[in-house]
Amino acid sequence: MTETHTGVPSSYPPSPEFAAQSNATAALYDEAEADRLAFWAKQAQRLSWATPFTEVLDWSEAPFAKWFVGGKINVAYNCVDRHVEAGNGDRVAIHWEGEPVGDARDITYAELKDEVCRAANTLTELGLTAGDRVAIYMPMVPEAIVAMLACARLGVLHSVVFAGFSASALRARIDDAKAKVVITTDGQFRRGKAVSLKAGVDEAIEGLGEDSPVEHVLVVRRTEIDVPWTEGRDLWWHETVAKADTEHTPKAFDSEHPLFLLYTSGTTGKPKGIIHTTGGYLTQASYTHHYVFDIKPESDVFWCTADIGWVTGHTYIVYGPLSNGVTQVVYEGTPASPDEHRHFQVIEKYGVTIYYTAPTLIRTFMKWGRELAFEHDLSSLRLLGSVGEPINPEAWRWYRLVFGGDRTPVVDTWWQTETGAIMISPLPGVSDAKPGSAMRALPGISAKVVDDDGNELGIGAEHGEQATGYLVLDKPWPAMLRGIWGDPERYQDTYWSRFADKGWYFAGDGARYGSDGETWVLGRIDDVMNISGHRISTAEVESALVGHTGVAEAAVVGATDDQTGQAICAFVILKAHHAETEPDKLVDDLRAEVSKEISPIAKPREIHIVPELPKTRSGKIMRRLLRDVAEGRELGDTSTLVDPSVFEAIRASK
Ligand code: WTA
Repeated sequence: MTETHTGVPSSYPPSPEFAAQSNATAALYDEAEADRLAFWAKQAQRLSWATPFTEVLDWSEAPFAKWFVGGKINVAYNCVDRHVEAGNGDRVAIHWEGEPVGDARDITYAELKDEVCRAANTLTELGLTAGDRVAIYMPMVPEAIVAMLACARLGVLHSVVFAGFSASALRARIDDAKAKVVITTDGQFRRGKAVSLKAGVDEAIEGLGEDSPVEHVLVVRRTEIDVPWTEGRDLWWHETVAKADTEHTPKAFDSEHPLFLLYTSGTTGKPKGIIHTTGGYLTQASYTHHYVFDIKPESDVFWCTADIGWVTGHTYIVYGPLSNGVTQVVYEGTPASPDEHRHFQVIEKYGVTIYYTAPTLIRTFMKWGRELAFEHDLSSLRLLGSVGEPINPEAWRWYRLVFGGDRTPVVDTWWQTETGAIMISPLPGVSDAKPGSAMRALPGISAKVVDDDGNELGIGAEHGEQATGYLVLDKPWPAMLRGIWGDPERYQDTYWSRFADKGWYFAGDGARYGSDGETWVLGRIDDVMNISGHRISTAEVESALVGHTGVAEAAVVGATDDQTGQAICAFVILKAHHAETEPDKLVDDLRAEVSKEISPIAKPREIHIVPELPKTRSGKIMRRLLRDVAEGRELGDTSTLVDPSVFEAIRASK
């Protein structure tokens, strides 16, 4: 290992033992390099196709890609039926662990197949056909995964809405996708308390009034709390799905048939419905899961701690692990429920071998202290992963030491909702890993760090000043998004206009190269914040704040935060008649407003009531300067401001 000046290794090569058994070898890079499309054609053979494809990639209508042209495939068949047919029906697909201790269920692949078929039959009876949309607003219960797979089986697009989102956020997503059916639960457990979820669905649908596209609401009983009920529209899962037939013949869909929509924050207030399709997405989900996590389906117990409401849950709880036929843990609750031992107990109980989580949680564990981990036997762990935001080297080392006994590889995986699957990551058993760097693009993927004009940056030095640039993807990849639902123009503008002359995808992240040519992703450079790995746009929060009657204007920035990566800081100007209101009360009201409009996760850490906002002569708010204020830095260049003295007033408000 190469040591840094502080005496800790700056790079971690794979151990000979791990390398000897790893799925990946260095030859994978060479193979992809030699013929990229042939490489992807081979990866697509990981799946079972009803009709083989005739062309790997059609990029003639860029940036609208077609992968595995002519191929036909059923995603649910690939994730469930084929494992049963191969004789693995008795293998546990999901060790489900409910939030209340002792509330657990094991579901084998054979049982999962029956459940998915039942749900597919019920959805068909409700009149859904291929191309229709279904909104899924559920906590982490097995039925959520069954619902997603049942949609996939029918070629119906699911739009999973994180159950932590508000009724108003749900309403906007149901409306945009024109979802005919909403699948939900009566309520969800949150830190030991049962809270309603179905009531939020009703509120969302009511909000749509006459224009509501929703014909049915299918409700899983989870907490047994009382729910509002609309006869004819609302149906219980246990009275419909549970009684449906377990026979269902899957139909194969075109490789480019849309598989799902997933809404994510953009730089405007309106969330974007990212479209993913069938063959390419599943190929890359399966391929990355196999190599990046070194999956051995016969012996591994995989645990991805994400929620199905985010893309990580889609690709590394549902489609990656299930297409590979692995056994995994799905946990319903929060890490501190009933206490901070919970994750360690779950790892011990199921003998988890591969654990994939977010840096924000690792930093929370660091705060709780390593003694907690040392009370448990974590020796089953053999690989650790990280996703969602840049991981600071200190957290990376702590993770490897405390979770991994200083022995396991750590894979820092960079990707996005839009990329569908992992793009940049070390390959365990092959790559040296540097704490804090996602290292290099996976075999078959091409990424570059470039300057404003698209010139590739030089290889940087490890320490000291180095050039930073834009992270771009210069070649199409199978799991790439195929567009934004209902808005092809926004798709082109958002992702393909920055380097239009080159035909590159711009991810929105800044990055630099390290001394060995590895990539260091530095985080978003647009107006998207990353709070505990959750993407939230400044515009969305601003629009929720100005929705309050007292607020005239609002500006929101993401400021560095030790725990959550970034924290939301808001600056608001009040309307004249509100200037008299008790400021503390108003700040509380505003935080509640954001929570109601978006989600509790979007609540600002700080709200400052200010007399003025810093603006350029063209009226644009200078967020960079607000970020300086929020982070307590010396102000950057203020020369373009109309009135530089506004900062004295803003500072005084802090
Ligand atoms: C950030 C999550 C650094 C990045 C899968 C990206 C990361 C955004 C990493 C996508 C990483 C994700 N290192 N930054 N390993 N992984 N990001 O769409 O800013 O929720 O653009 O997808 O998270 O967030 P999203």
